[in-house]
Amino acid sequence: MKLYLDTGSAKEIREAASYGLLDGVTTNPSLVSKEGRDFTDLLKEICTIVDGPISAEVVSLEAEAMVKEGRELAKIHKNIVVKVPLIPEGLKATRQLSSEGIRVNVTLCFSPTQALLAAKAGAWCVSPFIGRLDDISSDGMELIRQILTIYENYAFSTLVLVASVRHPQHVVEAALAGGHICTMPFGIFQQLVKHPLTDIGLKKFLSDWEAKNQPKG
Ligand code: E4P
Repeated sequence: MKLYLDTGSAKEIREAASYGLLDGVTTNPSLVSKEGRDFTDLLKEICTIVDGPISAEVVSLEAEAMVKEGRELAKIHKNIVVKVPLIPEGLKATRQLSSEGIRVNVTLCFSPTQALLAAKAGAWCVSPFIGRLDDISSDGMELIRQILTIYENYAFSTLVLVASVRHPQHVVEAALAGGHICTMPFGIFQQLVKHPLTDIGLKKFLSDWEAKNQPKG
C-alpha cells in the first residue's frame, strides 16, 4: 500500500520524506489555506521534496472552469494529480481531463455509487473519506471494501485512495482491505512506527550493553 501525507505543510512533508518511504501527498483547499502561502509556490516546493503523485484540488464548481483550472495545475509539474469533487460537474471535468492524459483524483467520495461513476469517468484514483463517515456513525471501512470489490468485478484501473484517516487502526484496516493508497495527517504517519515495547526493549539492550562494555578505569 502506498503511503501519502495529507497536508499542506512543506515542513511536515520534508520530515516524513526523510524516512525514505513517502509515496505521495494529498492537499485540499482547507489544508492549503492554513499555510497562508501562494498555492503554486507551495506545490512547486512539494514537488521538489517528494517524487510521487501530488494532489492539488480545483475550487471551481463548473466543469469548464474545473478543466481550465486542472490544466493549469497539471502544467506546474508532471507529478501533479488534479483533484476534483464528486459532483456531476466534477465527473464531466474528470472525463475531459483524463482524456487529455491528466491524472484526476476524484475526492469527497462517500458512497459506492459515487465511486462507480468516478471510475467510469476515467479517474486515476478515487478518495473515499472514511473518517468523516465514521464521524456520522457510518462504516467508512465497509465503503472501502465495497469499492474494491466493485472495481475488481469490472477490472477498473482506478485506484482506491483511503482518505480522512483518523488513527493508525484505519491504516491497518486499509491495508487489510487491500486499499491501494492511504493518505494521513503527519501525526498519524509518525504514530505508525511507534510502539512502547520497542522503546522499552531498546533501552534495555543499550543499558545491558553499556554495563558490560564500560571502559576499564
Ligand atoms: C483527502 O484527500 C482529504 O484531504 C482528507 O483526507 C480529508 O480528511 P479530513 O476528514 O480529516 O479533513
